[in-house]
Amino acid sequence: MAPSIYQKLLKCRQKNLFIVTDSTVGPLYGEELSLFLQENGFKATLIQFPAGEVFKTRATKEYIEDEMLKAGAGRDSCIVALGGGVVLDVAGFVAATYARGIPLILIPTTLLAMCDASIGGKTAVNTPYGKNLIGSYHMPELVLRDVSFLETLSEEELKNGYVEMIKHAAILDKNYFELLEKRSCSLEEAIEISVMLKSKVVALDPQESGLRRILNFGHTVGHAIESMSNYTVSHGRAVAIGMLLESQMADSLGFYSAYDRLKTIFESYEIDLSLDFPLDTLYEHMCLDKKSDTFVPRIVILEEIGTTQKFDNVYCYPCTRLNCQKLQMVKTKALPL
Ligand SMILES: NC(=O)c1ccc[n+]([C@@H]2O[C@H](COP(=O)([O-])OP(=O)(O)OC[C@H]3O[C@@H](n4cnc5c(N)ncnc54)[C@H](O)[C@@H]3O)[C@@H](O)[C@H]2O)c1
Repeated sequence: MAPSIYQKLLKCRQKNLFIVTDSTVGPLYGEELSLFLQENGFKATLIQFPAGEVFKTRATKEYIEDEMLKAGAGRDSCIVALGGGVVLDVAGFVAATYARGIPLILIPTTLLAMCDASIGGKTAVNTPYGKNLIGSYHMPELVLRDVSFLETLSEEELKNGYVEMIKHAAILDKNYFELLEKRSCSLEEAIEISVMLKSKVVALDPQESGLRRILNFGHTVGHAIESMSNYTVSHGRAVAIGMLLESQMADSLGFYSAYDRLKTIFESYEIDLSLDFPLDTLYEHMCLDKKSDTFVPRIVILEEIGTTQKFDNVYCYPCTRLNCQKLQMVKTKALPL
């Protein structure tokens, strides 16, 4: 791990640190970090849970809490969340509720977590009824990013991060979209642009009462697909497919559709857009989305690449079962239509 991250952690006010990580990141970076902190006068406890979206659950949250209670964690403690978006979301949720809230430091180790999940203070766990349905807002005191973590990340996981970057560009910045299309910015520059774009939106609407919903482009369908696949489809892939299907829904509602440009860019980044299960319950799953209004799901709609439709500051539009019906016919790997 880069020394810059080590040094910054040493300035942490709390001396009782709980490093929460998963079973992949723990052996790669967590154990070393824990030792380093112990050698520098901190009490550092490493808590690991099995890697993967299926473990982003209330049971995992309870497990982490019990480990902290056993170790005597109190308000003098701080959680250091070290990992991808799953670790950041669960550990952040523990920090939000443990002893009614303790400080949180985020160290994102996937591209998706660096450019997206580490920004904005959203924390959550999944339930059998749907994704991210139980959670809270809890802002980290510090976010420590270092691209060298990506050296051990698989190509498939990198692609999940590219999808969120493409989403930021599609909703907020057409020049950035062109840069990504032409591959004419470095990964570090792209992370910086994405962090800046998402941070600006979060600052304007921290509790998602309107504008922040645009960050959910592709997510009404994406979350439904993740849940329907029992999390065998990764978040990044599900959101890419979600952006395409939501573009088709926008088209059927008479709005602009970014379908062709999005499909081209996803293909150039070799994002797997196939699905091997039918979408016949897609609408029911979409209804459980947090943006739903009286159980009618709503989707974010682009005005063009780089901007979104406002709809009286609501920033999302109801999608009826009929709009969804054509998509429900999709049965196999034939996606997109
Ligand atoms: N809170 C938010 O604002 C927000 C935003 C976007 C996404 N998310 C959430 O993020 C999650 C997806 O995050 P993700 O894509 O990072 O998935 P993830 O956390 O499951 O990580 C993907 C895999 O990579 C492994 N890994 C992590 N860092 C590694 C490294 N440096 N080297 C090798 N392997 C490593 C993990 O162990 C895991 O197996 C979803 O649950 C999604 O809902 C949250």
